[in-house]
Amino acid sequence: MVASRLGYIVLGVEEPSKWETFGSETLGMMANTDDSGNVCLKMDDHPFRVLVCKSDHDGLLYSGWEIDDLDTYEEIRSKLIEAGFDAQTGSDAEAGTRCVSRFFRSTDPSGNNFEVYFKRTNVGEPFVSPTDVTEFVTGDMGLGHVVIPAPNLDETRGFYESMLGLQLSDDLSMAGGGNGQPDVRIYFFHADNPRHHSLALFNQPVPTKIVHFMLEVTNLDEVGKCLDRVNAKEIPLMASLGRHCNDNMVSFYVYGPGHIPVEFGYDGRRLDLSTFKPTVSTVGDHWGHDYQM
Ligand SMILES: [Fe+2]
Repeated sequence: MVASRLGYIVLGVEEPSKWETFGSETLGMMANTDDSGNVCLKMDDHPFRVLVCKSDHDGLLYSGWEIDDLDTYEEIRSKLIEAGFDAQTGSDAEAGTRCVSRFFRSTDPSGNNFEVYFKRTNVGEPFVSPTDVTEFVTGDMGLGHVVIPAPNLDETRGFYESMLGLQLSDDLSMAGGGNGQPDVRIYFFHADNPRHHSLALFNQPVPTKIVHFMLEVTNLDEVGKCLDRVNAKEIPLMASLGRHCNDNMVSFYVYGPGHIPVEFGYDGRRLDLSTFKPTVSTVGDHWGHDYQM
């Protein structure tokens, strides 16, 4: 009983149109606005991987976890209900907006909302980037990854392990640096696919409910060219170019509209799930990633 992949995220922002521009012109995704005014950002043959809705507060509304078979979907739903958590079935209209055949919605012990869905619809239209991105790394590995706040860290870890079947990839601890900064601890989890992590839990509160989400491309030049577009538009970076230790990703972090950070990277580690053992780390980066929080 394991979630197959992170299939989509739903952002809520005051001005969705800014994400239409940023998503297409800077990140290289295809963007269109649906009948309800939501911005759909497409990066493969799925109708979208990022849905941006109008909201009074900027931030993450839902992480969307895809389940490949209906029995597992029902099993996860029953388990949540038995454990006393919400598992509210989404309406047909909401399922239509998400292009899924069915879904339900719940909340983790740190207050992060998420959705679990079965069967994406409207799949097949090819991706053609408005910039020069040839391909985003998705398919069985899904959208990429999302990092969310989990002040209630260990309980939230147990929740994702027992309810969605996610498994630990790395346990990262870093001292605060002696300037009154709190110590950082991040748990990284993989779903039922080779991507090193699809979810990470950060031990501190974040008002937008998102630390960042990550998109991966297939070569370093496209990371560099995206960084050129960011710099040409003078969009602030959250972190300079660097390479992470645990997932080996070469990436930079840019602030999207509504102060929602995006990691744009290449060369992420793939796990052999038959042999992989989780790691413990105390260093985040081989080089770079100078954070400007
Ligand atoms: Fe990341």
